[in-house]
Amino acid sequence: MKKILSLLLAACMIFSLAACSGGDKKASAIDEIKAKGQLTVGTSADYPPYEFHTEIDGKDTIVGFDIAIAQAIADDLGVKLNIVDMSFDNLLMSLSNGEFDMVIAGITSNEERKKAVDFSDPYLVSKSLILVKNENADKYKTLDDLKGAKGGAQTGTITYDRCVLYCGEESTVGLAKVQDLIMELQAGKLDLLFLDYMTVLTYAAVKDDLSAVDVNIPSENEGYQIAVQKGNDELNTYINGVLAKLAEENAIEGYIVEAQQLAGMDE
Ligand code: ARG
Repeated sequence: MKKILSLLLAACMIFSLAACSGGDKKASAIDEIKAKGQLTVGTSADYPPYEFHTEIDGKDTIVGFDIAIAQAIADDLGVKLNIVDMSFDNLLMSLSNGEFDMVIAGITSNEERKKAVDFSDPYLVSKSLILVKNENADKYKTLDDLKGAKGGAQTGTITYDRCVLYCGEESTVGLAKVQDLIMELQAGKLDLLFLDYMTVLTYAAVKDDLSAVDVNIPSENEGYQIAVQKGNDELNTYINGVLAKLAEENAIEGYIVEAQQLAGMDE
């Protein structure tokens, strides 16, 4: 009996402790990141110059201008940057599951994505171009010319949806990794790829057999944004503060030039 009573008492104490801490302000997302000492960021590092793998001092490293932005946010928080690389189509689900604090991946928002996660202010305008083999550079001039062409795009992207829209469902091939799409294009198994403009310009510059083509693909979104968990206003506000500072200092232009150089582009 005594034992039960003391157990009950202990349970009450735990309950009142919980009730007491519940009265305090909610655990702060920023404090949690600082306590962990790291900002965990999800990305899909197959998208030069946004994010990609390169060798630095003989070591495989993830770089890119998105990564430089993530690093600036981590530096501002005074914590380490921890990058988690995975396939693009799993990123937002993993963010919602709490696997990372934010996602930066040349990503833009749409209504569907906004239902699952929250987005920061845009940090750069977005645009899509198509990538073709040199011999097809004059073949596609308008959106109408794309109809029936064998188009490739990355699964789970808005760019994929555009490829379906303009090439047609039957003619669109989706692959998880951008490097696999590039190989299929070079092998002549695909006529063209739909990708974000910076990636198209990078591949056109570093691969002798590939060219960038602008067919004026309409882009209805606001620009590239960072994604955070639904309702994480505190982190989102913090991120927007850092983005505003970077914009004021024109820092992002510098990150882009550096990333292009790392990707093998000359300018
Ligand atoms: N901008 C496109 C989207 O938001 C594609 C982004 C792909 N990013 C990447 N890191 N592979 O759907």
